[in-house]
Amino acid sequence: MSLTVDTNTVTLNNKTTIPAVALGTWQASTGEAKEAVKVALQNHYRHIDTAALYKNEAEVGEGIIESGIPREEIYLTTKLAVTDFFNVQEAFEESLKKLKVDYVDLYLMHWPYAVNQETQERIPCDFVDVYKEMQKLLKTGKVKSIGVSNFTKKKMERLLADPEVTVKPVVNQIELHPLLPQDEFIAWLKENDIQVEAYCPLGSSQANLIDNETIKTVAEKYHADPGQILVSWAVQRGTIVLPKSVTEHRIISNLKTVVLSDEDFETINNLHKKEGIKRVVNPKWNDFDD
Ligand SMILES: NC(=O)c1ccc[n+]([C@@H]2O[C@H](COP(=O)([O-])OP(=O)(O)OC[C@H]3O[C@@H](n4cnc5c(N)ncnc54)[C@H](OP(=O)(O)O)[C@@H]3O)[C@@H](O)[C@H]2O)c1
Repeated sequence: MSLTVDTNTVTLNNKTTIPAVALGTWQASTGEAKEAVKVALQNHYRHIDTAALYKNEAEVGEGIIESGIPREEIYLTTKLAVTDFFNVQEAFEESLKKLKVDYVDLYLMHWPYAVNQETQERIPCDFVDVYKEMQKLLKTGKVKSIGVSNFTKKKMERLLADPEVTVKPVVNQIELHPLLPQDEFIAWLKENDIQVEAYCPLGSSQANLIDNETIKTVAEKYHADPGQILVSWAVQRGTIVLPKSVTEHRIISNLKTVVLSDEDFETINNLHKKEGIKRVVNPKWNDFDD
């Protein structure tokens, strides 16, 4: 029942493996992202999650180099921006250049919508066509796996039903934490051999799960901090989890997980029944009902 550096991995539908805990980098701003990535890699992280939209790929690449950890030991994910749906190949090459790597392990469609950069309004565009462009990247060897993010079940079904979609996404990266557990959707994705990545696992700043009394009470039992309990819960339910921090001691502590007792695991599973559902990320052009 003691905290240990998490070395769990998850096997994807193309037989590759992915470390279960990653460093998230959304809102890791200029001057922060490089150091955070370096600290993480030097303290046993082997999985980094970034995106073109985060505007920090260049710093993430520098952090990788400065860490001294060989590229082949690192699992690196970046994402196709909503503003780049009509130039997938170029956008991908630009990400590689900024990251200063020859390949990425995982390339995700960040959201299933094309968005105009200036107005932030949606532009008509079929995400299935965009996914087909992403499939082509696999042939270059510069992407090991492709996947999606922020896909609803309805969108997932449409994608999988298309006869020209010949490569199943390996993951769907979605918001998941105790106040948005999405149990049924996770089960459905897993039945379809698609793994699930949990973003905002600490509730980001708005949901504030770090200060949640129930999480704090469970944490005390394990001499852990709330962040470690939230990451442990996410790993224990079989999701890949992406806690973000730019604070050295939090980066280090978030990778240390513990196996929760059935009782404590259930307590966290049921938290949303007591406190209600809370979604943190919902940009204005998004529609989770369609
Ligand atoms: N695909 C998507 O659309 C999408 C959307 C959102 C997020 N993501 C990914 O998922 C990652 C995680 O989500 P997130 O960044 O929104 O939120 P998060 O990881 O749930 O929370 C991050 C916040 O928690 C703080 N924090 C981290 N560890 C802590 C600890 N042990 N104790 C107290 N506070 C702690 C961080 O502060 P400090 O940094 O100051 O330490 C930061 O303010 C992102 O970084 C990104 O990689 C993807």
